[in-house]
Amino acid sequence: MSLLSPEDLPNVRFIDHAPEPADLMADARAGLSERPLELSSKFFYDAVGSELFDAITRLPEYYLTRTEAVIFDARMPEIRAALGPNIQLIEFGAGLGGKTRKLVAALDAPSSVVLIEISTDALRLGATQLAAVHSELEIIAVCADYSQPVELPEPTVAPTRRAVFFPGSTIGNFELASARDFLAGAAALVGAGGQLLIGYDLVKDVDVVEAAYNDAAGVTAEFNINLLRRLQAAGAELDVSAFSHHAPFVTEHSRIEMHLVAKRDTRIQVGDLAVDVSAGERITTEHSHKYTLDGFRALAGAAGWAHQQTWTDAGEQFALSLFAVAE
Ligand code: TRP
Repeated sequence: MSLLSPEDLPNVRFIDHAPEPADLMADARAGLSERPLELSSKFFYDAVGSELFDAITRLPEYYLTRTEAVIFDARMPEIRAALGPNIQLIEFGAGLGGKTRKLVAALDAPSSVVLIEISTDALRLGATQLAAVHSELEIIAVCADYSQPVELPEPTVAPTRRAVFFPGSTIGNFELASARDFLAGAAALVGAGGQLLIGYDLVKDVDVVEAAYNDAAGVTAEFNINLLRRLQAAGAELDVSAFSHHAPFVTEHSRIEMHLVAKRDTRIQVGDLAVDVSAGERITTEHSHKYTLDGFRALAGAAGWAHQQTWTDAGEQFALSLFAVAE
């Protein structure tokens, strides 16, 4: 995969802060030794998981990706004007960089772009493609877990300001307190005058939300169950067929809760830990929070961000907001 080296791309700097490979077995032992049972969503994205996720974003029921793109396309001139010239754009979890390329192409002479991504392969591809189109742009590619504090190198050219870009309602996968801490960290990172452009999913008809996470083709179910297959491949003993995917919207917490539900009594053996799971018992894998416009402003406000502008689609399904570091 690493055919590419920084020398091939004079305008790209690679910085490797990749964390030690997380230990799936150790993590699973911790999550399965307490009730409610949990398996960490950070293990969703192996090669199979990444492909399944990509398929999710194209499902007819999964409105998020598509709707965010519609807002982007319609509002790009306003977004460009609101971000202004010569900024440093910092994207958390850039993946293959498709959204970055679109935004960078629209920006007014950005001074540099920082891509932060945990997958080295995705980061290399994303940085290369961006560099191919913008040969004069300084690109800083940082392989790191962005949920931990990251230190960024000084760009060669000082920007007028820094702006964090965090699309895809990934913020919704954080618990509320972690989301606030993460947003506060982003404010500290960009400093005075800095901005945040963030995409998040809105509260809506429960059937519409539930359909997005319980698609008819069963892709999201496969994605969730892939976690069990990975655990099995890592050496755990379990019966994958004893579990089914269940993703209800829980109004009290305003979130989709992704669960793996035991269809019958079954046992999971992880090393010397044996967990007896009874029929109907759930293993939680991921949450996806849905916000009201006011609720999200309050969350960002508590993290030191002042609201500037919000764009939504005609159906108010999804929102893209711009915030500035509060004075
Ligand atoms: N952040 C998006 C969402 O909450 C994408 C996502 C993250 C997702 N984890 C997921 C989608 C698990 C489906 C299942 O919808």
